[in-house]
Amino acid sequence: MEMIIAIGCDHAGVELKGKIRSLLETAGITVQDFGTNNSTSVDYPDFGAKVSSMVSKNEAARGILICGTGIGMSIVANKFKGVRAALCHDTYTARMSRLHNDSNILVIGSRIVSPDIIEDIVNEWLKTDFEGGRHTKRLQKITEIEDLGGYNK
Ligand code: RB5
Repeated sequence: MEMIIAIGCDHAGVELKGKIRSLLETAGITVQDFGTNNSTSVDYPDFGAKVSSMVSKNEAARGILICGTGIGMSIVANKFKGVRAALCHDTYTARMSRLHNDSNILVIGSRIVSPDIIEDIVNEWLKTDFEGGRHTKRLQKITEIEDLGGYNK
């Protein structure tokens, strides 16, 4: 089946998004790019929401989001039902986010991570499968929290 990955960024991530888009397309993956596409200052929630909504509605298999630190995009993405967004700084966190957390959105801080390791991070995240087993029950607990609308309701 065709794999669709939704990507998005704020002004801090435009260059890196372009690089990641090329990597994905070279790998034969269909990319839906939600912008932004230039250095004009924008608000990361607007772009994070577009990508996260695609993943939440199963209109994209996975998503990749980029902002300066990756923190803002992570906060936004994890508000969406069914989204498990992981802020990854290296291949280890990218791999573990798939193995243990079944992450479906990869978040990268463009001002944190060296451009030299981006390709390795993305490839590791793409090729690693969820391990299942004991981790399935933990994800189920996250879903239960989501279904409650949060513990504080
Ligand atoms: C933009 O300057 C910056 O705040 C944003 O890219 C991100 O790091 C927010 O978390």
